Amino acid sequence: MPATDLQPASPPMAAPRARPFDVDAVRRDFPILSESVGGRPLVYLDSAATSQKPQAVIDAVSRFYATGNANIHRGVYRLSEAATAQYEGARQRIARFLNAPDARSVVFTRGTTESINLVAQSYLRPRLKAGDEILVTAMEHHSNIVPWQLVAEATGAVLRVAPVTDAGELDVGGLEALIGPRTRLVALAQISNSLGTVNPVQRVVALAHAAGVPVLVDGAQAAPHLVADIQALGCDFFACSGHKMFGPTGVGVLYGRADLLEEMPPWQGGGDMIASVTFERSSWAAVPTKFEAGTPDIAGVVGLGAAVDYLSALDRTAVAAHEAALLRYASERVAAVAGVRLVGTAPGKAPVVSFVLDGVHPHDIATILDADGICIRAGHHCTQPLMRRLGVAATARASFALYSTFAEADALAAGLERVRTVMGR
Ligand SMILES: Cc1ncc(COP(=O)(O)O)c(C=O)c1O
Repeated sequence: MPATDLQPASPPMAAPRARPFDVDAVRRDFPILSESVGGRPLVYLDSAATSQKPQAVIDAVSRFYATGNANIHRGVYRLSEAATAQYEGARQRIARFLNAPDARSVVFTRGTTESINLVAQSYLRPRLKAGDEILVTAMEHHSNIVPWQLVAEATGAVLRVAPVTDAGELDVGGLEALIGPRTRLVALAQISNSLGTVNPVQRVVALAHAAGVPVLVDGAQAAPHLVADIQALGCDFFACSGHKMFGPTGVGVLYGRADLLEEMPPWQGGGDMIASVTFERSSWAAVPTKFEAGTPDIAGVVGLGAAVDYLSALDRTAVAAHEAALLRYASERVAAVAGVRLVGTAPGKAPVVSFVLDGVHPHDIATILDADGICIRAGHHCTQPLMRRLGVAATARASFALYSTFAEADALAAGLERVRTVMGR
């Protein structure tokens, strides 16, 4: 293709036209969902670990490599300029999707984990003194615990933990009681990956801000299920991962309040993030490039742009209704299996069904279900403190997405009956 004919890998869409929700049509957009495993149709119920990818995302990534690949920002030839336009165009669309106030506040990272580490090292660490406090909740993913522990260990700060109830809900009063004069940051998940609990983030932000404390929202599980709205949340930082929201692996987002990002030093040095370099001293590029050292995952960003275009073109209200109905149905079907106990029963959950089966280890459940082509997760789901709080070593977890069906919930329930038979329960 001549350079003059360069097409953006994912052409910027005009205002997306919502199409009515039709799960069968949606499933046809995801090629992997027609695959089989050992001769059985794939029943993919592990979308909280990673979502499947629509053809539009696969095409955007492969079209970028096939026709648009060049490094960004530094090239003066048309191919590089077109790659830069795709990368920066995706930033604009992702910022709009998240309702960030400004695309410059959207930093590309490798994912939620890297976004949180960036905030821990660049924002929080320089501000911490011995005895200062970082407040998290008992339902956090290890990615929203360990980065804070690292900076706490380095500075003498202390991690405080807001309690959760037996049903897996955040105890907001307990959290409020822990916000004090030494609290320097509150960090919490919008949706728990292990339980599906949706936290009242706006309320937490209001409580923290009333005490002058900034809030980081771990949006890894929220981005694929809720209509993301950073301005409505009012948070100071928001982190999410492309691969959980139907985009590629290896790319994610950190939104940061513009004034905070301006104040923060770079956390990695290298190409692209500088304004000038001498052996005596260097100066930094403007936000957000200051935080994007080295060649980023350009194709990944282009693919993430295609993922948010895909999501924006769906009727998100209808998607939410489908997911809520599916959660209700799957919870009832799973709970009806003799010996099953659901873990995490907060009202208004995201479509995650965590459970234990009397006398059967979750790993055995997952292994036996795999023989039926059913993929679920078993273990601590990177939330060991939460498991300890709820008195279980591990759970089995079925997590659903917009392409999941009631028939798949039936397959899960039937599979669990087979688990009981195989295990003699
Ligand atoms: C709530 C939550 N936070 C953070 C992460 C980490 O995301 P990633 O591995 O994409 O960085 C996950 C992944 O499961 C998650 O569910």
